[in-house]
Amino acid sequence: MLSNGRHYLAIPGPSVMPDRVLNAMHRAAPNIYAGEMPAMMPGVVADLKAVARTAGKCAIYISNGHGAWEAALANVLSRGDRVLVLATGRFAHGWAEVAQRMGADCEILDHGKRAPANMDRLAQALAEDTEHRIKAVMAVHVDTSTSVRNDVPGMRAALDAANHPALLMVDCIASLACDDFRMDEWGVDVMVSACQKGLMTPPGLGFVFYNERAEAVHETADLATHYWDWKVRGAAEQLWQYFDGTAPTHHIYGLRAALDMIAEEGLDNVHARHATLARAVWAAFEAWGSEGPMELNIADPALRSHAVTSLRIGGDHGDRLRDWTMANAGVTLGIGLGMVAPDDRGSGGFFRLGHMGHVNAHMVLGALGAIDAGLKALDIPHGKGALEAASAVCAGR
Ligand SMILES: Cc1ncc(COP(=O)(O)O)c(C=O)c1O
Repeated sequence: MLSNGRHYLAIPGPSVMPDRVLNAMHRAAPNIYAGEMPAMMPGVVADLKAVARTAGKCAIYISNGHGAWEAALANVLSRGDRVLVLATGRFAHGWAEVAQRMGADCEILDHGKRAPANMDRLAQALAEDTEHRIKAVMAVHVDTSTSVRNDVPGMRAALDAANHPALLMVDCIASLACDDFRMDEWGVDVMVSACQKGLMTPPGLGFVFYNERAEAVHETADLATHYWDWKVRGAAEQLWQYFDGTAPTHHIYGLRAALDMIAEEGLDNVHARHATLARAVWAAFEAWGSEGPMELNIADPALRSHAVTSLRIGGDHGDRLRDWTMANAGVTLGIGLGMVAPDDRGSGGFFRLGHMGHVNAHMVLGALGAIDAGLKALDIPHGKGALEAASAVCAGR
């Protein structure tokens, strides 16, 4: 069996968890009233803000990304508020569904599954909103279903050009600590993330970063409930205040280790590593796609995420390939998501490769090698030279 050995979960989150993170979590329950655990929180928050490149505030929730979505909306919206959603994949639609359920009036600018948000369409929607009914523009930086990367500074520029007061709210769940993101410089008012992708920590922590503009809007927002309210969390002085109750102790130890690893590597180097590995992945898929059905979902490299790549391969080839690499090579590839119907989770002609967080050249080259073997084993037509192309990128050629 060629799959025995250390398994590689190459899906776009949860991502590979470093031994250092897991070992940091492997400990007896810490005291939550005094000592190391309460003392480490200000540093954790400061380092999270450094990764988000913001001087704003950060509220931490014991939740996944869906919880962070809801937290962000609850703090700045009132029932009936209009929001403009720039949809470029399943996750923007998902966030819009949460907003709708909470009583927001959602206007969705749908850009399909293969293109980034269009700034002219945004400008037009803002210009038409002469009464400033739109309270927030919501977008996903990297949509993990389509692997498109959106132009966040362009959104701020459109808002400023229209002199429109709506908040800019961005989901960075799949991009934080993978793709370059600069909350303050890019004029983002609210940013949502979670710990299980670029932050390399087991799922369970959601983050909402927010600036003073968002804090001011919060004063009149009526959707905030006790648990989601960010006010105390974002200015906490005691451990329980960060979490509105018992701290997720072991997750915090894991996150501390992950933030240390990011600081030691340097955030710019983390981004550069993701960028180079992404180029290696694309080089391989482009070579395979030169003959046969393989196709990168996003054609223009400048618009692709550095953390996840979505592929189209037709028929049920995606499912067959995923099954093959899992059973025969110990590599689990991601399912296609949201590519056929809005919530079709198992579209067999699609798959995704995650390359986010704790990944290096040998892991990416290994996953690509497993895909190459799978294509051969399954007689799926494909172009030659994919592994040579990927290794050349890793070699700096
Ligand atoms: C971009 C994006 N937003 C939101 C989510 C939802 O996060 P969660 O599954 O942790 O609720 C995901 C999950 O993959 C995501 O990739």
